[in-house]
Amino acid sequence: MKQHVDLLVHNIGQLCTVPAQDGGPQRGSQLGELGLLHNAAIAIDQGKVAEIGQNDAVCEQYDSATTIDARGQLVTPGLVDPHTHLIWAGDRANEFERRIEGATYQEIMAAGGGIVRTVQVTREADLTTLVEQSKARLVAMFAHGATTVEIKSGYGLTTESEIAMLNAAALLDSEHPADIALTFLGAHAIPLEFTDNPDDYVDLVVNEMLPAVADWRDEHWPDTLFCDVFCETGAFDLAQTRRILEAAARHGMALKVHVDEFESLGGARLAAELGAVSVDHIVATPDEDIEAIAASDTIAVALPPTPFGLGHTRYPNARRWLDAGAALAVATDCNPGTAWNENMQFVMALATRYMRLSPAEALAAATINAAFAIGKGDQIGSLEVGKAGDLVVWDAPSYPHLSYRFGRNLAQVVVKRGQVAYHAWWAGMPL
Ligand code: NIG
Ligand code: FE
Repeated sequence: MKQHVDLLVHNIGQLCTVPAQDGGPQRGSQLGELGLLHNAAIAIDQGKVAEIGQNDAVCEQYDSATTIDARGQLVTPGLVDPHTHLIWAGDRANEFERRIEGATYQEIMAAGGGIVRTVQVTREADLTTLVEQSKARLVAMFAHGATTVEIKSGYGLTTESEIAMLNAAALLDSEHPADIALTFLGAHAIPLEFTDNPDDYVDLVVNEMLPAVADWRDEHWPDTLFCDVFCETGAFDLAQTRRILEAAARHGMALKVHVDEFESLGGARLAAELGAVSVDHIVATPDEDIEAIAASDTIAVALPPTPFGLGHTRYPNARRWLDAGAALAVATDCNPGTAWNENMQFVMALATRYMRLSPAEALAAATINAAFAIGKGDQIGSLEVGKAGDLVVWDAPSYPHLSYRFGRNLAQVVVKRGQVAYHAWWAGMPL
């Protein structure tokens, strides 16, 4: 008698399981271990992977009312996007035009544009508008293969509007099949009303926002809540970053830090010292800080759409991070200023060309290591028995296609916890 499961995906030409390494991320030279199987099948039951193996063996043992014939194509774990600013209202297309004419991101920020411009529009938006505009982006991310997405607040910058952003993210989590990892980023920019006394804003974050956000979490968010700070000239300096992160840790929040997007203030070393889960951007990180991260459990998250979006030619050099033994992940950084991009496939295309990752390394950085960058590496990011049944059937025969091709969506079927949640009917796969 065959064992009945909720979903059987069979006739998989190439299956990338992308296993965790000794229960942790794939570090340094280990990055790119794809755990390849050919002519494989996978059984998923009650949302979790029940069996993975050779096609004939799995099909003899299991049956299911729902089956997907992968028709010899590629299957990978659901992609994980560990860094987005998904919730905002409006756009900054006018700033893009100014940048293309030659203005820099920092010049626009100093002239009162940039993050604070989106803050103004986001504060004015009601919850329904905010959720509707942000949901369109989440739907697009999922359709491009990201089954788990991290979302930051940070376009409110008052206690009330930051909590409104967290509420919007929690609503998206309940309304959409994607899983959400949630981050409080009250320290994203100094709001205009504090331009002349930025330390007063840090006081507000520490004394009012963090306690209020911790209370909100206790009532509404049973999962980990992260706290992030934009540590950069023109945003928060190293001392302010330390103050905010230490206070967040006292409230039981896990830590993330935006560091070295334009220049290094020492934020990466601070993140390693404080045991942050991730450091993100890492373009201008000096060697000693790379060593500090490599010696820690902190995941280094590169965001190649950001230099691309800014028209910069400087990307994180993945070889330096991997030679040092760091665990490297990649993300979109989806935001209205520097990188409005919902597509993790494009992130892999950029990472291979400009960060010098191989296609195999880019895929592991976008799955298992990205899962560890949001503290969920034990649940998602790889296809292993007992982990979440999150996978993508691609309209491509092998993993290099995910980096080699760009500009069109190759995701054909996206499965979240054993349920088919997106199907590109035009790609021709019958379901
Ligand atoms: O990660 N660096 C800070 N925050 C975003 C930009 C946000 C914006 O410009 O609206 C980033 O690039
Ligand atoms: Fe960011």
